[in-house]
Amino acid sequence: MTPKQSQTDTLRNYRKRKSEEYARIILSVPRKTALYSAIPYPGVVMIMGDIRTGKTALAHEIANGVHSRRKLPAILHMPRMDEKQRASFQRITPSWMQVTIKRSQWKDKAVVIYDEAAQSAHARRSQSGDAVELDELLAIAGQREQLILFISHYSRKLDLNVCTSVHRIIWKRPTYAHQLWERDEMADFTCKAYDFFKGIKGKVAQKKACLVLDMENFGFYQCNNKLPPWWTDRLSRIFKEIQVQGKG
Ligand SMILES: Nc1ncnc2c1ncn2[C@@H]1O[C@H](COP(=O)(O)OP(=O)(O)O)[C@@H](O)[C@H]1O
Ligand SMILES: [Mg+2]
Repeated sequence: MTPKQSQTDTLRNYRKRKSEEYARIILSVPRKTALYSAIPYPGVVMIMGDIRTGKTALAHEIANGVHSRRKLPAILHMPRMDEKQRASFQRITPSWMQVTIKRSQWKDKAVVIYDEAAQSAHARRSQSGDAVELDELLAIAGQREQLILFISHYSRKLDLNVCTSVHRIIWKRPTYAHQLWERDEMADFTCKAYDFFKGIKGKVAQKKACLVLDMENFGFYQCNNKLPPWWTDRLSRIFKEIQVQGKG
């Protein structure tokens, strides 16, 4: 008669199966999908990657997709702008995309673009009132039916609270340094993103490509995004304008 498996053995096997499953997903080829199918609503999406790799353009294109399918407005949150700059950026974005300076201006049932999220959600500032408020906003994103798009170079700069609240992580091309210095929890994912983009030939093809990690049903997808119709390079350089203004 074979001895009955102890609970400890069962637990060990369970952990081994989980670890095998994790390895299989990390090593698998990402399934092809359309951008819009990969986006939750409501939800929280983190967009990461090196500078000038297409993060901001992707966020605008997601807002475009949600607006054309669900007729929902969008919010472009720019906390460091003054009113004159805000109005100037409002003129180059669609009327259904509101450029905001204060979080109290965020509407329910909307896509919120929180670009260069690290500026306000910086890990070092996690004790500040700002971060607490951000936490709350993340928690109620579902209740307020918002899709929040956080954009950052890499997750080390962001609060763990933000990282653990996300439903999807979308990568644009990371650098080799990102995969080296990424926070431990994210290291395998960023390595995967680095290798994924290394396999894409051509600068434009790389800018179009996205690697999506679905955190709800753990798995990777790949898709492409185009530029939204209102896109101009000025949207790419918003932060330069704010910094120049701040110094002058
Ligand atoms: N899907 C795309 N197809 C073609 N060009 C793109 C695409 N996404 C971005 N670009 C170009 O790449 C540049 C950087 O894009 P941007 O979104 O501002 O990058 P990031 O926000 O990562 O710094 C812009 O000049 C933009 O026109
Ligand atoms: Mg940008």
